[in-house]
Amino acid sequence: MKVLITGGGGFIGSHLAEAHLERGDEVWALDTAMNLKVRHLLTNPRFHYVKASVLDAEALEAFVIRADLVYHHAAVVGVEHYVDDPFNVLNVNILGTLNVLRLAHRHGKRMTFASTSEVYGRNPKVPWKEDDDRVLGATTTDRWCYSTSKAAAEHYCWAFRRMGLDVSVVRYFNIYGPRLDKIDVGRVITIFMGQLLREEPLTIIGDGSQTRCFTFVEDAVRATMAAGLKPEAVGHAFNVGDDRETSILDLATTMLKIAGREPGAHLKYVKQEEVYGPRYEDIQRRVPDITKMKTILKVRPQTSLEEGLRATIDWFRYESEHRPSLTTSSMEAKG
Ligand SMILES: NC(=O)c1ccc[n+]([C@@H]2O[C@H](COP(=O)([O-])OP(=O)(O)OC[C@H]3O[C@@H](n4cnc5c(N)ncnc54)[C@H](O)[C@@H]3O)[C@@H](O)[C@H]2O)c1
Repeated sequence: MKVLITGGGGFIGSHLAEAHLERGDEVWALDTAMNLKVRHLLTNPRFHYVKASVLDAEALEAFVIRADLVYHHAAVVGVEHYVDDPFNVLNVNILGTLNVLRLAHRHGKRMTFASTSEVYGRNPKVPWKEDDDRVLGATTTDRWCYSTSKAAAEHYCWAFRRMGLDVSVVRYFNIYGPRLDKIDVGRVITIFMGQLLREEPLTIIGDGSQTRCFTFVEDAVRATMAAGLKPEAVGHAFNVGDDRETSILDLATTMLKIAGREPGAHLKYVKQEEVYGPRYEDIQRRVPDITKMKTILKVRPQTSLEEGLRATIDWFRYESEHRPSLTTSSMEAKG
């Protein structure tokens, strides 16, 4: 099978590419970024890296045409981007998705779209089912532009489904693992990672009681592939995540324990507005109902937080010592 992964040079895309190569497939990863996260795949003759933007429909079309299956993962991701450059977030995430959908539809290709738990916004319900409401803040609060961009893209997916496109949507809940962002930037695990490796205190934003469901990337990739390959997945949205809830404080404590440090003495608390400014609104709990993932995709999360964090910490520790280009610098920021 021939597979196109937009955003294939990113964190999840790189793991998805690896998994499809292991299946014996041929993979094209299309991305605007450098190929650092897939450099271990570049010698594989069935792997091709294409430096192009999903906003460039002409460049994109050549690769959609040759694919049997398209995963659309390219997106502008990261809290810093939502508050600093909402134009780019909206543009790439909505118009880029529209380009991919149009081309997949035109050439009769199957497609899976990478969406996010952020689409549920701050709906206080726990857990969230796929057809639960979206509860969002004002459009004048930039923080909501990412959620809105992904939800608009999902609406486009369903519109194209009506026109006959075989499309499914996966909504990720805090995926982590090796090759997540660079240390010190991006998501909470990589922020903690930098502090952990330098033996500094881990910075807790707020009181640390806010919870997330951290999902190891291998579990997320199995669900994503099932969404791309199983006929019964077409026309569905799936929460893809682990439903075990972890507070940010517990996450920090677990990471410290794995690194062999005494948790109590190595935590520092800061106010949220000092980090993200007064216009950021955090979400207290975010828990997926994963019934559909288990029953239709037949995938269950298998990796415990401790196991996944240990693999992630080991990877970051090794890479930052031996190949720091992948783990350090201020290249990108995520959320
Ligand atoms: N990791 C998570 O926890 C998580 C959670 C929710 C949703 N998602 C979604 O999953 C997808 C993959 O996320 P990720 O965590 O791997 O992030 P990532 O930033 O590592 O991957 C996204 C990739 O898209 C690329 N990209 C950005 N603009 C592009 C453009 N115009 N054309 C082509 N490529 C472009 C980036 O260079 C990057 O490599 C994204 O769509 C994201 O919104 C991820």
